[in-house]
Amino acid sequence: MPVRAAPTIMPGYLPRKYAMSRIDELMCKMTLPEKLGQLTMTAAGYAVTGPIIAGDSTEAIKTGAIGNLLNLIGPGPIHEMQRLAVEESRLGIPLLIGLDIIHGHRTLFPIPLGEAALFDRDAWTLTARASAVEAAADGLALTFAPMLDVSRDPRWGRTAEGPGEDPWLGAQIAAAKVRGFQGGGLACADSLAACAKHFCAYGPVTAGREYAAVDISERTLREIHLPAFAAAVKAGVATVMPAFTDLNGIPMTAHTALLRDTLRGEFGFDGVLISDYNAIGELIRHGVAADLAEAAALALKAGIDIDMMADAYRKGLPVALERGLVTMEQIDTAVRRVLALKERLDLFDDPYRRGSQPEDQETVGRRRLLARSIAARAAVLLKNDRDTLPLAKVRRLALIGPLADAPAEMRGPWWAAGVPEGQVSVLAGLSRELEGIEVLHAPGSAIVGDDCGHIAAAVELCDHVDAIVLCLGEGANMSGEAASRACPELPGPQRTLAEAVLDRAHGMGKRVTAILFSGRPLIVPWLAERADALLAAWFLGSETGPALADILAGRVSPSGRTPVTWPRALGQVPIFFGQRPSGRPADPKDHFTSKYLDVPNEPLYPFGHGLGYGRLVQSNLRVAPDSVTESGTIEVKVDVTNEGAHSAVETVFLFTRDKLASVARPLLELRGFAKVELRPGETGTVRLSLPAAELRFLGADLAPVFEPGEVEILVGPCADRSRLLVGSVRLLA
Ligand code: NOJ
Repeated sequence: MPVRAAPTIMPGYLPRKYAMSRIDELMCKMTLPEKLGQLTMTAAGYAVTGPIIAGDSTEAIKTGAIGNLLNLIGPGPIHEMQRLAVEESRLGIPLLIGLDIIHGHRTLFPIPLGEAALFDRDAWTLTARASAVEAAADGLALTFAPMLDVSRDPRWGRTAEGPGEDPWLGAQIAAAKVRGFQGGGLACADSLAACAKHFCAYGPVTAGREYAAVDISERTLREIHLPAFAAAVKAGVATVMPAFTDLNGIPMTAHTALLRDTLRGEFGFDGVLISDYNAIGELIRHGVAADLAEAAALALKAGIDIDMMADAYRKGLPVALERGLVTMEQIDTAVRRVLALKERLDLFDDPYRRGSQPEDQETVGRRRLLARSIAARAAVLLKNDRDTLPLAKVRRLALIGPLADAPAEMRGPWWAAGVPEGQVSVLAGLSRELEGIEVLHAPGSAIVGDDCGHIAAAVELCDHVDAIVLCLGEGANMSGEAASRACPELPGPQRTLAEAVLDRAHGMGKRVTAILFSGRPLIVPWLAERADALLAAWFLGSETGPALADILAGRVSPSGRTPVTWPRALGQVPIFFGQRPSGRPADPKDHFTSKYLDVPNEPLYPFGHGLGYGRLVQSNLRVAPDSVTESGTIEVKVDVTNEGAHSAVETVFLFTRDKLASVARPLLELRGFAKVELRPGETGTVRLSLPAAELRFLGADLAPVFEPGEVEILVGPCADRSRLLVGSVRLLA
């Protein structure tokens, strides 16, 4: 038998499966401090949201003691830091550099709550894509977005950053945003790694108070707070950030069951877990760790790979290793995950590619146009009596209020690299873009504080104009992180201003439009009652002024729909459409039923509410087939007619109600939405498909079940049951 010579293996020609990967090679070479450097993320100082703990990082980058940065902008500074890591550190491992690109980078889009009002998956993806392209051109590779925390309490400031009150909506936004940020794949020069945050159930903080404890049932956790994260993982999100808060006594930063078993195990997340800012250190104050070593050990064992700003891994893990609280293997697993992400982002082979090509003016201009059209579509027209809007026969307009000429405030919370000069105020936008209308302006009052000194001048202005637009609400910093408000109403002297203007204007028969800026639904029943038109503008971003001009002039018919219920009184909070039924539903004739003695149960505005300039009527609901098994699909059709005089966009919402099940189901569950644009007099048919499997719910043991029986199909313009068309389908075993 001929003897074959053993193949000679030349270095460099090793068959791929026998070759050591770059990560294996690095793992062999790395010292413990270098490994811990890869698990450390330090703020570079641009937009700090907490105490600076690590100080100047340049030396630490060179020694490999810091492997990741946040809060740095601009290709110059970013490439310089990258150069230190790649060219001056022993192993040349590139840095992962991230920033909170929450609703745009330099060009700002509406805040996430405002974007949720679009009810448009393509638009959600488009703005994330545009933000990623702009941020990547600035050298960044990671954004701490999308924020996916469901909020049902307007006291909580971070309501502004999230998808609103509904878990299904949150899941749609999660998938669209991850797709947008991560684009054609992490290796693309214009892609960012996304970060689904804050995992999980951060929204129901006690009494809406930021960072406070969270105590909710397992059912609420699974039905309301986890679906958006499951959707983000399914869409391939590269990183996840745990919430600052605890859940039923276990801080999320140390929540092994949820981070390891649910997120990584059940959902299949294989990316990088990044702690929130100093959150590992805060385990000590949560009262679950005695010192930094214990805190670091808890976080590492829960599966957190990167320590943001606590310096707990660098300082605490060596001690934890000595004490036997963690193993080298656990550290290595985290390091490998971080290196794998850097490899997926193509940072090893081309660390300078993001930020190497300055953007041309055309790209920048196109992004501004996108910002303008998205902003115009995100505003929600809550009220429009006697067709106050669009403005007609107005030659002179009074623009009154502290937010009329406030470009910096238009950014809202989290403005990334958006500078005040890059924002177009309402005054600038209206003055420039309302043809044939002279705009007179008076601030009237300050946003907060007691400054009522200018109210008289503002009121006087009403005498000289045909119509009045009030710009009221919160300043940019009044929502977002650490911005809980016990009284989420119009702040400061603005109510005095608005009442005085309304008195004078109405006394002269002039119409008043109130534009409300806020990161949450504000409790303003009096304003909703008195203003002729009320427009929720959230914070619309860089193109606020032109977008509002488009709406006021009638060039754009408002099409935003509120993704949160607007309460009429704080006592109604938490308020949301998906409540479960009571055994004693409200009945005004029966004292012992579920209601308030002092306010109605109904909200000021229901979820999904929003008017346009047309008059849209939904009719003729068809549901087919009559019965369906779990593998089938329910087809829903409804006609929409525009009976008004303007073209307009209608949003059709599809809800279900499972009236009889082994577990009490919510009064309404959102299952779909679609949009249709119609000219005056036009009728269109909207079709929605609902896979029957989506009607599964968590049974008494919290395992998914598909129960036979009748399910109501409800279709209409918002979550007000009295406005919904009702059909039904029978589910078959
Ligand atoms: C704290 C916030 O909770 C988080 O959302 C953000 O990403 C980090 N700070 C970094 O800025």
